[in-house]
Amino acid sequence: MPLPPPAPGQPAVITGASDGIGKAIAFELAALGRPVLLVARRGELLEKTAEQIRARHGVDAQIRAVDLVDRDARRKFLDELAEMDVSVLVSNAGVVTAGLWHGRLDPALERAEVELNVVAAYEVVLAALPKMLERGSGGVVVTGSIAGNGPAPITTTYSATKAFLNTFAESLHFDVRGRGVNVTLLAPGVVHTGLLTGPLTRVPGFLCATAEQTAKAAVEGVARNKLRVAPIAAHKVQSALANYLPRPLWARAMYRFYGGK
Ligand SMILES: NC(=O)c1ccc[n+]([C@@H]2O[C@H](COP(=O)([O-])OP(=O)(O)OC[C@H]3O[C@@H](n4cnc5c(N)ncnc54)[C@H](OP(=O)(O)O)[C@@H]3O)[C@@H](O)[C@H]2O)c1
Repeated sequence: MPLPPPAPGQPAVITGASDGIGKAIAFELAALGRPVLLVARRGELLEKTAEQIRARHGVDAQIRAVDLVDRDARRKFLDELAEMDVSVLVSNAGVVTAGLWHGRLDPALERAEVELNVVAAYEVVLAALPKMLERGSGGVVVTGSIAGNGPAPITTTYSATKAFLNTFAESLHFDVRGRGVNVTLLAPGVVHTGLLTGPLTRVPGFLCATAEQTAKAAVEGVARNKLRVAPIAAHKVQSALANYLPRPLWARAMYRFYGGK
């Protein structure tokens, strides 16, 4: 199904739009003439991005500064989202911890990672989807990761959260088939953004995509109702390896890759 044509009052909503992949996706969608609603914690960065989008693409750009880990703040935003006429939802906000690499594992941080990467990422989709189905049109992008294809020691909690998102998005794609709503899993490997920490900063350049390449893959992918997209050939190869290698072998390879002994 084609996505609904850009229309005033039907924003593309992007979580995690203050930086990195989400910000690049916001620009990509705005370049196609879509009004955007940018969501993240850092309001000043969101406002700066919104101003640039308005100036560059002449579309409406609104912001919501929300901490999606905070359950009360999230509930308020979800209630608003459920009432909106969302054209495209990009559930993208996420964090990564590399607990073991830092020699410590902070339970509160790990829990917050699950709350953001799983619960909030899932709930924004649940909030926006009913109106899309009612209207019979819309698009959903869920940012998972190749890290979710299999075990990724060192980024242990992260890979488990992304396994949820990968499976959720790829299942939902078929659940809503024939009802006018496109659902695409964005599952990149390493992308050059501020997210990278510890061992992830040492990944060789040829294995890394840019945020812009990743955004292009996401936006083209959901327009064509692709099940799953990755931005560069190296990520597609990594993804296939993760899917087809026996899990113990993949787990050991990832452990070594991140510098485990
Ligand atoms: N970079 C990679 O290698 C890579 C690979 C595969 C998948 N991904 C996924 O891509 C997505 C975007 O990551 P990125 O690489 O673009 O990282 P990034 O540049 O750090 O962006 C993360 C975004 O999430 C927002 N965010 C973080 N905590 C939040 C919270 N509590 N409430 C609301 N928003 C929050 C951040 O904004 P504020 O700080 O302003 O809240 C920021 O806009 C994540 O889901 C990540 O897991 C990244």
